[in-house]
Amino acid sequence: RNLLRDQLLKAHELTAMLYHFLLKNSDHGQPAMEYLRQRGFTDKLIDQFQIGYAPNRWDTLTQFLTKRGFDLSEMEQGGLLSMRSDESGYVDRFRDRIMFPIWDRNGKVIAFGGRMLHDGQPKYLNSPESMLFNKSRVLYNLHHAKPSIRKAHQIVLFEGYVDVIQAWDAGVTNGIATMGTALTSDHLNHLKNQAEEVVVCYDGDDAGQAAAMKAIPMLEKAGFQARVAVLPDRLDPDEYIKEHGKERFRHQIIEGAVTPTKFKLIYLKKSHILLEDSGKQRYVSEATKLIAEIQSPTEREVYLKELAQQFPIFDYETLKQECNEFRITL
Ligand code: CTP
Ligand code: MN
Ligand code: MN
Ligand code: MN
Ligand code: MN
Repeated sequence: RNLLRDQLLKAHELTAMLYHFLLKNSDHGQPAMEYLRQRGFTDKLIDQFQIGYAPNRWDTLTQFLTKRGFDLSEMEQGGLLSMRSDESGYVDRFRDRIMFPIWDRNGKVIAFGGRMLHDGQPKYLNSPESMLFNKSRVLYNLHHAKPSIRKAHQIVLFEGYVDVIQAWDAGVTNGIATMGTALTSDHLNHLKNQAEEVVVCYDGDDAGQAAAMKAIPMLEKAGFQARVAVLPDRLDPDEYIKEHGKERFRHQIIEGAVTPTKFKLIYLKKSHILLEDSGKQRYVSEATKLIAEIQSPTEREVYLKELAQQFPIFDYETLKQECNEFRITL
């Protein structure tokens, strides 16, 4: 047995309980509670996700752990405490932040993500990498979502904590998140055999869309069927739910998630100036190249017909011919 690991697990479990208790029961926690309410967190969600609050003090957790006999230098290694700048002792790492516990596959708390209540940097402070927490392996909410994932044979992949939680509240209970880092093959190895399909539901801003483009080939390489949920107006899933409601999120965004080819076409279109013929021609040529990569002839036909419809200056037969020429070079 690894004693340090056991100590850190125990400390994380107790810390999550402490922060959750302080959010709900202390005066310090009231502004945080107010913030969460405004963002649509019900008591039930706060309990289900064990959300907490780290007070704006240097020694709340430090004293709590000291009293329970934990070795503070071990707690610093585990990312719960920080060394004072003059190295004279330890202080709380998380202060004045909303605390989201991060669990491993078995539901043990192994890290935290801490959000500021106000605008400021960094918006989220996460636990550092430790013997418990490896960011490129851990997927937020996997242990909660597993039964749903198995039942639906589907995973919905989000960017962050709030998206997962608000989507859960909207009935999408098979959601997990990479917590800001890029999707890695380590993440995907954990998910093999759990589901056939992954719906990428990243933010509608440029960063989210670019990340979705990168995720597609990784998912396909790992053997998943991939689809992409397209969010309008640069909204992220949480913002979309606030603005358009749970029903529309489920039916239009998640159920309406598009195929990788369709998503790539949408993405490609944004980078072209379609007002001019030369821009249209460049877009149509690149789109045709994308369509050429599709294996199924009927599927290619559907996309090419759609393209010809969108750009009447090009004839379907011409696009088909161009597509076939691209296929020869594949
Ligand atoms: N993230 C992080 N550190 C940051 C910013 C983001 O670790 N400084 C991670 C968090 O896990 C966050 C995710 O990346 O949930 C997505 O980032 P972003 O879209 O910027 O945040 P939101 O999840 O939309 O957060 P919120 O709605 O609370 O503003
Ligand atoms: Mn089944
Ligand atoms: Mn984002
Ligand atoms: Mn976001
Ligand atoms: Mn958000």
